[in-house]
Amino acid sequence: MLLKWGRNRAAPVRGRVNGAGSRAHRGADDGAAMGSNAIIDLRNVVKVYETPAGPFTALKGIDLAVARGEFLAVVGKSGSGKSTLINMFTGIDHPTDGEVIVADTPIRHLNEGQMAEWRGQTMGIIFQFFQLLPTLSVIENVMIPMDLAGKYGLSERVARAMFLLEQMDMARDASKFPAVLSAGEAQRAAIARALANDPPILVADEPTGNLDTRNAEIVFDLFGSLAAAGKTIVMVTHDDELARLVHRTVTIADGLIVEEVRR
Ligand SMILES: Nc1ncnc2c1ncn2[C@@H]1O[C@H](COP(=O)(O)OP(=O)(O)OP(=O)(O)O)[C@@H](O)[C@H]1O
Ligand SMILES: [Mg+2]
Repeated sequence: MLLKWGRNRAAPVRGRVNGAGSRAHRGADDGAAMGSNAIIDLRNVVKVYETPAGPFTALKGIDLAVARGEFLAVVGKSGSGKSTLINMFTGIDHPTDGEVIVADTPIRHLNEGQMAEWRGQTMGIIFQFFQLLPTLSVIENVMIPMDLAGKYGLSERVARAMFLLEQMDMARDASKFPAVLSAGEAQRAAIARALANDPPILVADEPTGNLDTRNAEIVFDLFGSLAAAGKTIVMVTHDDELARLVHRTVTIADGLIVEEVRR
């Protein structure tokens, strides 16, 4: 079931980013050279939250280009801005300033309806707490995105949901309800759901945060297989061991990218 994925074992290239504003970080290789190969492109993204205590700048000018097929890990201390960053290119929230282009679409031009449709086609999102709908069976959860997108015909949806569950070694759990699943099973069901419409991008915010080491490795290996098969994956993680195994790791501190390691 689990495909083993090739990893480039070349020595990592470490870059430290100094100073405020991360324009420099973009550099020749991220920006111009990557050019249209970037499937996710954030340019000088700023996010200011209005709070009772006054404005709080959670992202201070992020430049980040993610290549098609790249497996990127985002690390950083709690409160550094990782989830805020993810929310900027999933369209869950809007930047205060800057530009976000995903799969050639500048997403600030989308209205709410267009955004929902665009998100359904473009990305699958996986959360720390799985967020399966408790009143639906596993297979029904996997079918929801397909029901919403209308990309697959009715008869195809059941077969495709079963196919995805088989890939996640979850076929025998298809008719169970989320409450009876282990954490590892729930996350594999959530990954099957994220893949429902075969999106080019997978975004995962702490996907292994609630899993034991063994299940974290299983889920991580699944991501690796998906990256090897051409998906672009952005994964927020606190797990340094896992972060070391991806193509590139960026570290966020206080709303800025402060370090980047390529492998
Ligand atoms: N809706 C909001 N309103 C005000 N402040 C917010 C809001 N959401 C996040 N913040 C603040 O922005 C900062 C970044 O939060 P964010 O959730 O992105 O951190 P994180 O790196 O994902 O942390 P964790 O590892 O704990 O998930 C934090 O200081 C947080 O308190
Ligand atoms: Mg977070």
